[in-house]
Amino acid sequence: MATELDQLLHSYTQQVDAQLELIIPQAAGPASKLYKAMRYSVFNGGKRVRPALCFAAADAIGASNSNTAKVAAAVEMIHAYSLIHDDLPAMDDDDLRRGVPTCHIKFDEATAILAGDGLQSLAFKQLTELADLPASTNLKLIAILSDLAGCNGMVSGQAVDLASTGKQLSADELDYMHNHKTGALIEASVVMGALATDQATDTQIEALKQYARAIGLAFQIQDDILDVESSTEELGKSQGSDSANDKATYTSILGIEKARSEAKRLYQTSIDTLSIFSTSADPLRALAKFIVHRSF
Ligand code: IPE
Ligand code: IPE
Ligand code: MG
Ligand code: MG
Ligand code: MG
Repeated sequence: MATELDQLLHSYTQQVDAQLELIIPQAAGPASKLYKAMRYSVFNGGKRVRPALCFAAADAIGASNSNTAKVAAAVEMIHAYSLIHDDLPAMDDDDLRRGVPTCHIKFDEATAILAGDGLQSLAFKQLTELADLPASTNLKLIAILSDLAGCNGMVSGQAVDLASTGKQLSADELDYMHNHKTGALIEASVVMGALATDQATDTQIEALKQYARAIGLAFQIQDDILDVESSTEELGKSQGSDSANDKATYTSILGIEKARSEAKRLYQTSIDTLSIFSTSADPLRALAKFIVHRSF
């Protein structure tokens, strides 16, 4: 029987998928190959954790509305673009993603680069289509996504990831890399989901930020653990890719036991930061649990 979280995730996924369906161009016309590649990389079965965090943050405020699905679609398009580029030969050189050939294998490298570019700018376009928000809140959302997805956030983490290949990092350097390459977009998802309700207090936003920072780091630690412990079949991506590429990861640098205990500690921190919320934050609590216990 489906758990409550399964049902919730299913409903969040349906809502964001409907929005993505609306905004991503149909695969027709002279640029149909580009659109096909964009659709291929979005509608191929991701877990939709970031959209779920957007919806769950809006639910924690008690004010999910028609903007929530749009903000969720924006962060998922950034995520999809980041995966397409992350898999390229110049980066992690991976052939398998979500159980199917990566975008550059299915199409070609140039198309994969363009599909990522196209998704990134569509994400920002989406944020210009929010309804009934003060312009100052709308601009704040755009600024947060630019910061956390770009060269002050995810992109800088990816740069450090590439520069760290084959190197021994300190614990602080490792945290910088993980907090930026993965934590930043998770923080954007949670904070933007809450801000787009236009009803969140500063105290609530601050608590949600702390929640997201803890669970964002835990997310990447679990991803590193799964690269060692899971299987290609279950992951839908090539198990062992990190060690094959000599990547600096939580498991390669601190060992699997320390990685596990750190994920557990961060999970507890994320739960503690939600103490100001009632049961309205239960979806965020359930997502935190899923993030550190998932097997894919
Ligand atoms: C994978 O993210 C990339 C990381 C930041 C670790 P997900 O595990 O959320 O990937 P999908 O979207 O479910 O495929
Ligand atoms: C990816 O980290 C982070 C981003 C795409 C920003 P990984 O390289 O560990 O992700 P996977 O394991 O390929 O999904
Ligand atoms: Mg990578
Ligand atoms: Mg990768
Ligand atoms: Mg990984």
